[in-house]
Amino acid sequence: MALVSMVELLDQAQKGHYAIGAFNCNNMEIVQAIVAAAEAENAPVIIQASQGAIKYAGIEYITTLTKLAAEKANVPIALHLDHGTSFAQVMQCARNGFSSVMIDGSKHLLEDNIALTNKVIEAVRPLGISVEAELGKIGGTEDDITVSEREALFTEPAEAEYFVQATQVDALAIAIGTAHGQYKGIPKLDFERLTKIRERVSTPLVLHGSSGVPEEALREAISRGICKINIDTNIREAFVLAARHVLEGDSKEIDPRKMLGPAREAATAIIREKIRIFGSTGKA
Ligand code: G3H
Ligand code: 13P
Ligand code: ZN
Repeated sequence: MALVSMVELLDQAQKGHYAIGAFNCNNMEIVQAIVAAAEAENAPVIIQASQGAIKYAGIEYITTLTKLAAEKANVPIALHLDHGTSFAQVMQCARNGFSSVMIDGSKHLLEDNIALTNKVIEAVRPLGISVEAELGKIGGTEDDITVSEREALFTEPAEAEYFVQATQVDALAIAIGTAHGQYKGIPKLDFERLTKIRERVSTPLVLHGSSGVPEEALREAISRGICKINIDTNIREAFVLAARHVLEGDSKEIDPRKMLGPAREAATAIIREKIRIFGSTGKA
């Protein structure tokens, strides 16, 4: 199948009360793991590339690998730019065949975030490319801030309503207590805030920093309106642990395939587990 637009996947998910997994890729094995997991679960899936991934692998490799994987796959796949920060970068992804982009203007003032998001929507929507924006600041687990400082960065429901009215964006990433990377403790999500946002906004809502969020909390977030869930760190952990296990078992191993094969299998297994939690099994 050709790459599909993310908005179609999210609309179906919203109607069906499940979430689409958006999994970060950095290399061929991770692209293959995401597609293998999606096919094994018969689930639609979003493959996403961060700026770091594009810098590491090169945009042509990311798009070529993903397009090939999608063409060979029998499940719908969208290719999405994760946390795009500039108009130029979004346009580069559009030219290279991404079917979806995130423009992350969350570090800007509200009106500047709206203006940047609208500029992107105006440029790429006519090309059939969907757009995700971010409101509130999600940040990283390594950010050295207190709980109350983090809460001050959470998405305001009234602001979310205003933002969506002003942009008509296809998907909105919100800050409700998650963070990117490995959590030190158990993350506590502000579910009441999520419900208040959902009451004011019918746009598909996105949960970032979802690795390490307990299964029950993910299910609760979905039941309250999250329909795209981003996972990166859990894939990295599974991939690297499996590779490390091979090398620790045989320090003389010099065949990369002996290390990358098990790493790819471990990534596939964790992605399948997430897809089942998200309720998107069988929804392709
Ligand atoms: O949202 C953040 C992702 O985990 C990407 O991280 O820039 O290191 O690829 P990265
Ligand atoms: P984690 O790495 O915490 O899963 O976050 C992924 C993410 O939000 C990518 O945008
Ligand atoms: Zn993110």
